[in-house]
Amino acid sequence: MNQRPLTLALPKGRLLKQLAPRLSAAGVSAATLDMADRRLVRESPWRDDPAGLRILLLKPDDVPTYVEHGAADVGVVGRDVLLERGADLALPYETGLGRCRMVVAAPAERASTSHDPVLRVASKYPRIAARHFAQRGIEVEIIYVQGSVETAPLTGLSHVIVDLVETGETLRQNGLVELETVCEVSAVMVANRTRLKLRRARIDALGAQLAGPLQS
Ligand code: PRP
Repeated sequence: MNQRPLTLALPKGRLLKQLAPRLSAAGVSAATLDMADRRLVRESPWRDDPAGLRILLLKPDDVPTYVEHGAADVGVVGRDVLLERGADLALPYETGLGRCRMVVAAPAERASTSHDPVLRVASKYPRIAARHFAQRGIEVEIIYVQGSVETAPLTGLSHVIVDLVETGETLRQNGLVELETVCEVSAVMVANRTRLKLRRARIDALGAQLAGPLQS
C-alpha cells in the first residue's frame, strides 16, 4: 500500500549535528543530511518504511509550530523552546541529546536575586523567566534580548539573566556566576496529537531510533 511519508521537523544547528549519527543509523541518506545543501524540504529513504521520510529543516523555535499545526507529524526540539512556546503537543520520546540547564546568572559580586525593589532580568526566554520569578514571589521587569544575553548585566541593561548553560564557559569568560537553576533542558521528539493516533507504529519506530541508548 502506498502511503505518505512521515514528516519530521528538525532544528538547523547544533542539535542536528548531534542527531545525524542516529538519523544515519535509521537509514537516512548522507545527501539528506548535507548541511551545504540549501534545500529545506528533503526526501530520504528510511529503514522502517518504503515511503521514506520527509525532513523539514527549520529554525528551532518554529519546530513546535509546524508539528502543532500538522505540517509535520513529528519534530525534535529542546524543552527550552517547548516551555517558552507552550505548544499543545504529545511528548513521547526523550533523546538525551542537547543536555544543558536554564539558570539565573549574575555578575560574581551579586549574591542573590532578592535585594532589588524590581529585579531587571534579561532573557531570550521571557515566559520561562517570568514564570520562575512569579513562583518565587519576586517582582521583576523582563527585558527581551535575542542573543549574547551575557552582555546585559555587564552593561547595566539588567541585574541578572536567565539563559542556557552547557559547559559554563560563556558565563565564566564574562565574569558571571550561577545563582539559581530554573530547569534541566534536553531535546525531545514531539508529535502532533492526532497524527500520533493515526501513525503510531511509524512514530514509535522513529522515536526509538532517535531516542538512542537509554540514559542512566
Ligand atoms: C548559548 C547560551 C549561552 C551559551 C552557553 O548561546 O545562550 O550564551 O550558549 O553555552 P556554554 O555554557 O557552553 O558556554 P548561543 O551560543 O546559542 O548564542 P547566542 O548568545 O547568540 O544566543
